[in-house]
Amino acid sequence: DLASAPNTIIERRELQPNIIELTVNAPVIAKNAQAGQFVRVLAEPQGELVPLTLADWDAEAGTIVLVVQGMGTTSKMINAMKVGDRLEGIAGPLGQPSELHKIADDQTVVFTAGGVGLPPVYPIARANLQLGNHVTLIAGFRSADLLFWVGEGERVDELQAEFGDQLEVIYTSNDGSFGIEGFVTVPLKDLLDANQRGEGRPIAEVTTIGPPMMMRSVSDLTKPYGAKTVASLNSIMVDATGMCGACMVPVLIDGKLIRKHACIDGPELDSHAIDWDKFLPRFNLFKSQEQQSKIKHGW
Ligand code: FES
Repeated sequence: DLASAPNTIIERRELQPNIIELTVNAPVIAKNAQAGQFVRVLAEPQGELVPLTLADWDAEAGTIVLVVQGMGTTSKMINAMKVGDRLEGIAGPLGQPSELHKIADDQTVVFTAGGVGLPPVYPIARANLQLGNHVTLIAGFRSADLLFWVGEGERVDELQAEFGDQLEVIYTSNDGSFGIEGFVTVPLKDLLDANQRGEGRPIAEVTTIGPPMMMRSVSDLTKPYGAKTVASLNSIMVDATGMCGACMVPVLIDGKLIRKHACIDGPELDSHAIDWDKFLPRFNLFKSQEQQSKIKHGW
């Protein structure tokens, strides 16, 4: 039957008017997925390929969970799909899995997630918890009415219930309507300063996922403290196989500029090595095409 056919949407949940969580039948991907990886989705035969993070998966049920923010033509098209609809194709899992290692018992692994950065952070944080690591999750939203995955029965709270003291969750909002007022960098700076005074759990590593400017701010903040920081890059991608160059990330290694590809070398890269001045403008590369496409589709 249709519901068990590959690539079929079997559950659809509106997290926010513009943010949709889809549970999709994809048994092979669900069986092979590792934390930190993504998939490449083709929504319709003549459509464009979009990279989407694996927000969750269930190997037994043969399902994967994608969280899609309607931004461009394709993501809006995917978000408009209904239960029973079928995506044309899903390739994956793609990208390098997160490097997981056991940290010292008194340390913590910090995640800073901005907005829809939370779904990609979730499986990596969970994998760290399962490994026995203490995790500090700093989740930032623009305001209280844009929250998702927070509250009873929701993913963050379920994780908290499962792992107890092993997980510390700190919320921020830009307008102070939920949690600490300000960006994710506010509590992160407090933690780094505390570490410098010899207080709090020493930060073993920071992983940042979210809007490019947020990742840059986190990276700039942690650099002088010498805190190892990894950015999981939601670059513009086309083929996601290292061939097209769309996802190029300029990285400085020993003063030499090296081109890395977010799709095959990443998505996680050492954020202190990224040349952010050169990298950030790349997010605007396809703005005019995207605009044209929106006009064509009447969005
Ligand atoms: Fe084409 Fe990475 S998406 S090289």
